[in-house]
Amino acid sequence: MSTSQAPVALVTGSAKRLGRQIICQLHQAGYRVIIHYNQSADDAYSLADSLNQQRPESAVTLQANLLDMPSLTQLAAQALACFNRLDVLVNNASSFYSTPLATASLSDWDDLFGSNVKAPYFLAQALAPELAKQHGCIINMVDIHAKQPLQEHSVYCMAKAALLMMTKSLARELAPTIRVNGIAPGAILWPSQQLADTDKAAILQQIPLQRTGTPEDIANTVLFLLQSPYISGQIITVDGGRSLGTTEKA
Ligand SMILES: NC(=O)c1ccc[n+]([C@@H]2O[C@H](COP(=O)([O-])OP(=O)(O)OC[C@H]3O[C@@H](n4cnc5c(N)ncnc54)[C@H](OP(=O)(O)O)[C@@H]3O)[C@@H](O)[C@H]2O)c1
Repeated sequence: MSTSQAPVALVTGSAKRLGRQIICQLHQAGYRVIIHYNQSADDAYSLADSLNQQRPESAVTLQANLLDMPSLTQLAAQALACFNRLDVLVNNASSFYSTPLATASLSDWDDLFGSNVKAPYFLAQALAPELAKQHGCIINMVDIHAKQPLQEHSVYCMAKAALLMMTKSLARELAPTIRVNGIAPGAILWPSQQLADTDKAAILQQIPLQRTGTPEDIANTVLFLLQSPYISGQIITVDGGRSLGTTEKA
């Protein structure tokens, strides 16, 4: 496939961590990639540089704060203009922190719902016409905590639960031209905020496979979904068995 015919993927929040790995593996699979970032400009530029060295004109960067609707609208327009086509939207950007009920603020609510639900929804709306033309895909990064509450993270959990339902609802609404799926990671990379070693050990104890997952596990699942033309409206859990719960003894 010549570079100018290669499919195009936009991954939000992809300068670092899971998004970066998704970009790298999509690029390796032949995609041209749009690296979206908000604050991590240096990471985004260095990623694009290294991918463009491997294949010229195969990676671009776009900046936007997804909480700001005019910026989101502009991001969608720029993403469409970059390569004049779009095949894949991965809604990966997210904020994540605890919000105990006693202290949660309206701005926490707006930030957590804005990045995890509102932005994915309105990006899907803006990009659906082009994705439909390409018979493309939307993949939403959900979380096992969309179904299983995480202590003192109620706003984040509610936002991911809404994203889970959005995945199923849009899979219905956008069929048959666009497939919409989600991935629900368990513990893959520890959060950027400090997590005590005792808390990490407690989480590892709940995982039957007894280890965290890797960003490659998530990126492989993205590629699997893209290569599975009869799967739509599904959330694939990638959690080392953690959501099975504890084993009951007879
Ligand atoms: N890590 C895990 O183990 C895990 C577990 C369960 C679910 N997940 C889900 O998987 C996805 C990726 O996880 P991750 O840990 O790699 O994510 P992350 O590092 O917490 O966040 C990814 C990026 O989101 C961007 N972002 C946040 N708020 C934004 C805003 N208002 N506007 C634009 N961009 C914004 C940030 O971009 P900048 O740095 O450029 O500002 C950040 O680098 C997330 O949806 C997360 O909820 C991850």
